Amino acid sequence: PRLVILDTDPGVDDALALLYLSARSDLKLLAITTVFGNADVETTTRNALWLRDTIGLSAPVHRGAEAPLNGPRGASPVHVHGENGLGDIDLSGPSLPAPDAGAAHARIIELVHANPGAVTLVAIGPLTNLALALRDAPDIASLVAGVTIMGGAFAQGNVTPYAEANIHNDAEAAAAVLEAPWPVTLVPLDATRSCVLSTSAARTAGGFVETITRGYAAAYAAHEGLDGCPLHDVAALVSLTVPELFTARTTAVGVGQGGERHGQTLAIADGPPVRIHVEADGAGLVEHFLRSITPRKHSTSAVSN
Ligand code: BDR
Ligand code: CA
Repeated sequence: PRLVILDTDPGVDDALALLYLSARSDLKLLAITTVFGNADVETTTRNALWLRDTIGLSAPVHRGAEAPLNGPRGASPVHVHGENGLGDIDLSGPSLPAPDAGAAHARIIELVHANPGAVTLVAIGPLTNLALALRDAPDIASLVAGVTIMGGAFAQGNVTPYAEANIHNDAEAAAAVLEAPWPVTLVPLDATRSCVLSTSAARTAGGFVETITRGYAAAYAAHEGLDGCPLHDVAALVSLTVPELFTARTTAVGVGQGGERHGQTLAIADGPPVRIHVEADGAGLVEHFLRSITPRKHSTSAVSN
């Protein structure tokens, strides 16, 4: 399997990405690293610990950045993911362990050094931890297997008309990550917007999926008039497991800094090539997600006698 570090700000679609990971034998999760984003970092870290236990994953959880590289403490002002970051579902239960020792960016560096050429960094929150790791150990750029990012928007943003939330939350970190000489795949809103889990499909899936998406879907219905919720972060993982579901093009990418185009991603002439999954077969991706997370029914007749 492919070794993965998931850098995340859970987040309802982050939660579904963790669920997807847990169901895939072709992805091996080395660590979950957290970052501010959908909520402050204390909350996203608590959510990561809760999700790890609830979903039954065994990877360590390392707390990461609480603020953008050069900004005040951050959390998205838009509460699409509810006050608790997970659609305001009930998070009570047994008390959670503390996060594992070691800051997110330091752990990323250690794991990449320990597994040269083998680790894929999958970032589904603001890119602060990745930028900090690069700053402290630029050599990781040539030691990762790849970097896959849910982020960016080329046609239309979500937090502003131009910018997507993960990039907008730390545009400076995003620029550092997209300008570094490592193999980056970007899965922007242009692709993930079409990957919508409808409310009826969520209801059919039932259980965890139905519960956790209820508030998120309501927020999307209110903000974007959508029936259901986009699987933004799941799409980043699926771009690794089933890349055929995407159409890609390659270009250098710049990031708007300041002003009304803050956090906008744009194709530029100079810079390291970034593979951009500009379009997705959304229906196919959602079907693949649901098939992956549905436990297979084992035929008992096949093992009789
Ligand atoms: C991205 O922002 C967050 O709200 C989601 O979890 C996703 O990573 C979509 O813009
Ligand atoms: Ca996220």
